Amino acid sequence: MKKKISVCHIGAGRIGFTLEFDKKRKKPASHLGMWKSNKDIKLSGVSEKKNINKKLLDKISKNITVYKNFDKMIKNEKPDIVSIATWKDTHYAITNKCIDLGIKVIVLEKPLANNINQAIRLHKKINKEKVKVLVNHRRRYDEEIIKLKNKINSGFIGDIIQVSSYYVYGILTTGTHLIDTLRMLLCDVAGDIESVIGIKNEFNFFHPKDDRNIDGILFFKNKLKATIQSLDIKKYDNFDICIFGTKGKILISGIGRTGLVYEVVKSPEHSGFEELAQVPKKIFGNRPRNQFGLLAKNAVNCIKNYKAKPFCDDYESLIDMIVIDGLLKSSKKGGIKVKIKKVKK
Ligand SMILES: NC(=O)c1ccc[n+]([C@@H]2O[C@H](COP(=O)([O-])OP(=O)(O)OC[C@H]3O[C@@H](n4cnc5c(N)ncnc54)[C@H](O)[C@@H]3O)[C@@H](O)[C@H]2O)c1
Repeated sequence: MKKKISVCHIGAGRIGFTLEFDKKRKKPASHLGMWKSNKDIKLSGVSEKKNINKKLLDKISKNITVYKNFDKMIKNEKPDIVSIATWKDTHYAITNKCIDLGIKVIVLEKPLANNINQAIRLHKKINKEKVKVLVNHRRRYDEEIIKLKNKINSGFIGDIIQVSSYYVYGILTTGTHLIDTLRMLLCDVAGDIESVIGIKNEFNFFHPKDDRNIDGILFFKNKLKATIQSLDIKKYDNFDICIFGTKGKILISGIGRTGLVYEVVKSPEHSGFEELAQVPKKIFGNRPRNQFGLLAKNAVNCIKNYKAKPFCDDYESLIDMIVIDGLLKSSKKGGIKVKIKKVKK
């Protein structure tokens, strides 16, 4: 029998574990769920600071050893891959320690780190130690969003001319997904983000204590601008992205589940004018995709094939964080334009 790839997981909270039991979510819906559903993987250990619900864990597997201390788990289990789904302010220290313990493939929840200095230091170490880190910016593992990127690249709606987009709940906590998705979709056609303007959202929308809602403008290399604006998660969740091209408009809605295209049509009201169709055509949706499945597959490939690369590595995630740092700096200086200083890959 082929030897399985062994995995240990750190942080059995919502995304690490319990969301697997959310009846509405597509499965797998958590780190433990994705490892369990991948036939190349043997999930041998889980480390959680709090008491873990053993009955629920047994539903995933009865053969997982539970540890309070992840250091001890890694030394005992000697896994090939470690996944980390702890709070953002622990990502830096835990990832560092995993690298020191010799782990070469790490699946890490976003964001890469809690601040820009940590993110830069961690990226340097990952590079030096030749570790593959897969950051779970989940749209990078969504096959429909990947196809949409290719469509945009091949001129599906012509040249991209304006973009507006929305997020909820903190620029670092959730805004990071939006910035990452915009960069994923637009970098090939527009180059990367070169400068930003950030403005505090003065409405008291809900956000983590240490992470504000920032609105702003992202300036891409080819002069394309994308606006990002924050909404209130207590009223409703939102992740809309509206992309205007010379040949139509794409709307991503339903928290990324649905893609619509509005084609250019002759105006029914004004002779000699074109406008956008009022009724869109569906590009994809409304069903969620198996993003965790693709993430696990990508991690397995990273072990099996030395040439395989993460779909979202620490460098992409670091650039997302540099953009966020620019937005924060700009917002503190009354919205002046701030240059994005890229670091070496
Ligand atoms: N990619 C996504 O779509 C997505 C969605 C939700 C959350 N997240 C990210 O996942 C991470 C976790 O979020 P969550 O909502 O699951 O939080 P959570 O609080 O539900 O879970 C985190 C768990 O980590 C445990 N933990 C913390 N330090 C630990 C340590 N040293 N050793 C072992 N266990 C430790 C905590 O006890 C807790 O149970 C955050 O970084 C968040 O931003 C990502």
